[in-house]
Parts: sequence; C-alpha cells; structure tokens
Amino acid sequence: MRPIQAPFPATRFRRTRASGALRALTRETTLTVDDFIWPVFVRDGENTVEPIASMPGVNRLSIDRLVEAAAEAHALGIPAICLFPYTDPALKTELCEEAWNPENLSNRAIRAIKAAVPDIAVMTDIALDPYNANGHDGIVRNGEIVNDETVEALVKMALAQAEAGADILGPSDMMDGRIGAIRTALEAAGHRNVTILSYAAKYASSFYGPFRDAVGASGALKGDKKTYQMDPGNSDEALRLIERDLREGADMVMVKPGMAYLDICRRVKDAFGVPTYAYQVSGEYAMLCGAAERGWLDGDKVMLESLMAFKRAGCDGILTYFAPKAARLLRQG
Ligand code: PBG
Repeated sequence: MRPIQAPFPATRFRRTRASGALRALTRETTLTVDDFIWPVFVRDGENTVEPIASMPGVNRLSIDRLVEAAAEAHALGIPAICLFPYTDPALKTELCEEAWNPENLSNRAIRAIKAAVPDIAVMTDIALDPYNANGHDGIVRNGEIVNDETVEALVKMALAQAEAGADILGPSDMMDGRIGAIRTALEAAGHRNVTILSYAAKYASSFYGPFRDAVGASGALKGDKKTYQMDPGNSDEALRLIERDLREGADMVMVKPGMAYLDICRRVKDAFGVPTYAYQVSGEYAMLCGAAERGWLDGDKVMLESLMAFKRAGCDGILTYFAPKAARLLRQG
C-alpha cells in the first residue's frame, strides 16, 4: 500500500503534527496496560524483599510478598505475571530434579498467586538453568548439552507447572522438539487450555547478564549458551524456528532480546500474523535505568518510547520489568 499525497504545499506533514489532538487522532500505534507481561523473581522466606544490584527497583520477593505484588499488578490492569525462581544452591543438581518437584518454589508461588489473585494470568519459565549445578538450560553430559534427555526433563517440568495452575508456559530452553513434546503431554494429561508462549527466537545474548545474577545462575554457568541459543547474526533462522514451533503447537511466540532485535519482531509478525511478543530483557532494563539514574536520559520517557517501539515493530505485547511503572504512568495519561 502506497498512500497518495499531493506535492507541497498542498501536502504539509506538519499539519497533522500541529496539536496534541491531531497527533492523537493520527497515531498509528498505541501502548496500553493490556500489552504487558511482568517478569518477577521469587525467593524463599517470609516477608522478604531483596534488591538486585544490577536491576534498580527490581527485587527478589518471598511468596507472601509476591502475592501482594501480583494483586497490585492486577489492580493496575496488568494481564500477566511471569515467575522466575531464585533457587537455593543446595537444591541444584546435575540432573535438575528440583525442576519438576511439585513443591518447588516456582510451583508453590503459582498456587499461591492463583489462590489469591485468580484473574491474573501466571506465566512460567521452562528451562533447567535455575536448578542446574552446571548453570545451563539443559542437562550436561561429558561437556555436551544433551537435547533429547533435556526435553524429557522439560516435559516433566511443564506438567508440574500446569498441575500447579500455570496459565502460560514459557519454554525458554531452545532445545529442539520441546514444544511438540510438551503439547502432546499436556493434551494427554487433560490440560487442554494451558497455553504455550514459545521463546522461539531466543538469541545467545550478552544482554541477559543482570538476569543471571537475579536468579543466581551466573556463578554456576560454565561456558556460554551458543550451542542452543541463536547466533545474533541470523534472521532467516528465526522464521524457521517460529514456523517449527507453531507447527508443534505453540499458541504464541517470542523474540528475545527486544530492542536490538526489532527487525526480527517485524519479520515474524509479517510472515505469520500470530500473537507475537518481545522480551525487553534485564540488560535493556539495566541500560535504561543506569542512564536515567545518572541523569543522562529521562527515565520515564525512554521507558515509554522503548515500549511503544515494540508495538510499532508488530508485537502484541512485551515482557518488561517496567510493567507496573509504565502502567501507572499510562493511567495518569
Ligand atoms: C533462562 C532465561 C534467561 C532469561 C529468561 N529465561 C537467561 C538465559 O537464557 O541465560 C533472560 C531474561 C532477562 O535477561 O531478562 N532460560
């Protein structure tokens, strides 16, 4: 589609920018609270709020405080919350058994939130890194991150999360074949309405640094994740992965990280037209907060501008640590 326009001065682009009213009427993209999924970190204990140094304003919360935070998020209109557990290092093993323990921190948190705030959707993370003595998303055998054995573990993890009441499962592990295996197991167990938001195009990025501190995985991780996460130079491969995951039964797909990968968001939306999300990851959050703290950027303004950019790039929603702050600002108008 090529809009027709008369030559200057019959066309003056500044006419429709001349007032707030005209700008509002001609704005092509909108950002609302409906667009947010809020990632949060959960830890053991009671009445505990533990700041994360590299993510100003983000805390690890004990389950009781997490339930309060979920209630606040729901009151703000945020549709979904995404849980990441900070696991006691003593529970981390080579085979990651804690990942499918029905009573693990994440599963207890799901139950507590669904009991107290049933209308907020609870999303989970499916990957072994919080439970892995090796810090990787998959099981390590002789230095190799083994695919098929990991998928079997991920299926057990997914079923335990669905059983606990999770609404949206988020496989973030980048193993091959996991979406199909998880979908088949969910159907067989009668979990027909549990949705899968696949981290389908997830890159081996250095923007995840602060997150790995937040979940306590940095210390354990040996090496990098390049044999399973995508090479940042690739774009066609992202489309092939998204198509593969859709064919295996993903309901929604994600591109991650966000800001440096907006071209991928646009290609995915144009190619498939499915519900598409971006993850504005920990490093992006830290970058914007760090500059704002120093007075180098206006924090509120760059936050909203960066979130709008995801919508403009074709995303239906954004996982963002800014969710409550942005929701409050959008409410004020
Ligand atoms: C774990 C996982 C990661 C993130 C979400 N799930 C880290 C990683 O892949 O190393 C990153 C989120 C962020 O940086 O905010 N599989």
